[in-house]
Amino acid sequence: MAKRLHIKTYGCQMNEYDSSRMADILVPLGYETTDNPKDADLVILNTCHIREKAAEKVYSEIGRLRLMKDHRQQNGEEMMIAIGGCVAQAQGEEIMRRAPAVDMVFGPQSYQALPELIEKAKLAKNNKPSARPVAMDFASQDKFDRLPAQTSQNGVSAFLTIQEGCDKFCTFCVVPYTRGAEHSRPVSEIIAEARRLVAAGAADITLLGQNVNAYAGDDGSGQPARLGELMTQLADLDGLSRIRYTTSHPRDVDDALIAAHGDIEKIMPYLHLPVQSGSDRILEAMNRKHTADDYRAIVARLRAARPDLALSSDFIVGFPGETDRDFDHTMDLVRDITYAQAYSFKYSPRPGTPAAELTDQVAEDVKTRRLSILQDELRLQQNAFNEATVGKVLPVLFEKPGRHEGQWVGRSPYMQAVAVDGAAAAGASAGMEAQVEITGLHAISLAGRLVSSVDTDREAVAS
Ligand code: 5AD
Ligand code: SF4
Repeated sequence: MAKRLHIKTYGCQMNEYDSSRMADILVPLGYETTDNPKDADLVILNTCHIREKAAEKVYSEIGRLRLMKDHRQQNGEEMMIAIGGCVAQAQGEEIMRRAPAVDMVFGPQSYQALPELIEKAKLAKNNKPSARPVAMDFASQDKFDRLPAQTSQNGVSAFLTIQEGCDKFCTFCVVPYTRGAEHSRPVSEIIAEARRLVAAGAADITLLGQNVNAYAGDDGSGQPARLGELMTQLADLDGLSRIRYTTSHPRDVDDALIAAHGDIEKIMPYLHLPVQSGSDRILEAMNRKHTADDYRAIVARLRAARPDLALSSDFIVGFPGETDRDFDHTMDLVRDITYAQAYSFKYSPRPGTPAAELTDQVAEDVKTRRLSILQDELRLQQNAFNEATVGKVLPVLFEKPGRHEGQWVGRSPYMQAVAVDGAAAAGASAGMEAQVEITGLHAISLAGRLVSSVDTDREAVAS
């Protein structure tokens, strides 16, 4: 009988990608995924350590799972609990000490070993002289070499990790410690994976990396290819209509990448380019190695290459030593750039990072006030951006039928959900694109009407 697997994913898209690959690697062992942890023979928590209370959340989730595990045991069923991801990498041994219900712990670069870990965990459970396994190696390429082909991603949008780890050491960030050093996958491997994703129905692929534009993967001749070059090659894939990448660092935006935005239609005009702060003093203390004006200049060059480019960013308020003046500089930058969307956070001291040791920590109420001022402005900008799409004609990539008869829902280049009435009758299906005039704005989606026939080229390719 099939065994059931439940994976709960926290944090970033890289964790989502990793979770899908964990499911892939467990298929040969007979595991099928379930949405309900109560039914699961194996539950994996794929954890995130980026901001505060991450570990507490994991322990409370383990507490809930322990009750389910006891319940299943009373019914003669088992439930193994596995903790993966960045909290596991940072605190694996402690989790093992504090939570006897946990059967195994593994870091983000070690999940290729899941089959062996499960075996070892079973031995440990049966009181064989074997400890519950803990896997913490930084073995990025070994991981990719050992993973089986993708099977669990079969939607129109898919993720593809091309780069892992980070050598930047921003002083607030745990990533360089939990994900390890930068590593880029070879070009040929990425192209092969993209081909498989397209064959399984993907038309919109997001290339992932903690520092995705630091990409420098072997191009086959032993030379490193940069991101612009990789995307130029990917753009040749028939059936792939959209390419995105995240998360990029301003410092690694090179000329070829800017040029690619202008030259390659398939690169979507929507870029997540975190700036974190608009104050040069704070940027320096964060070890970002760029100024606010450097960022403005990069954005200007990107917009010159691709005038319809929209931007998204991450911001941290209340970094140690941030004054009202520093915060004003952040607000100035936000108003200068104007964002389509953004994430903003209060600074959270992460154990083991340099900024956590700084003595001039900002008071909680000050952080709260600044965050709310920033978020008000970002919300206004986001609403203005969405309102400005009304009346425009945008390409929409269809994903699934909508709630109304004959309606299909798809995505604009800016990831906005667009519901298009009458699309079914025009031949819409998943993965096809059409020109749509945006006619209205709802709470979380746009409404539109077809102004072109549905492009059926793709179906011919996929079938
Ligand atoms: N405190 C608050 N926000 C943080 N981020 C990373 N580390 C911290 C921290 N210690 C934010 C950054 C990053 C995003 C993924 O999370 O803005 O870009
Ligand atoms: Fe963290 Fe900075 Fe690396 Fe991004 S670039 S993962 S914020 S250290």
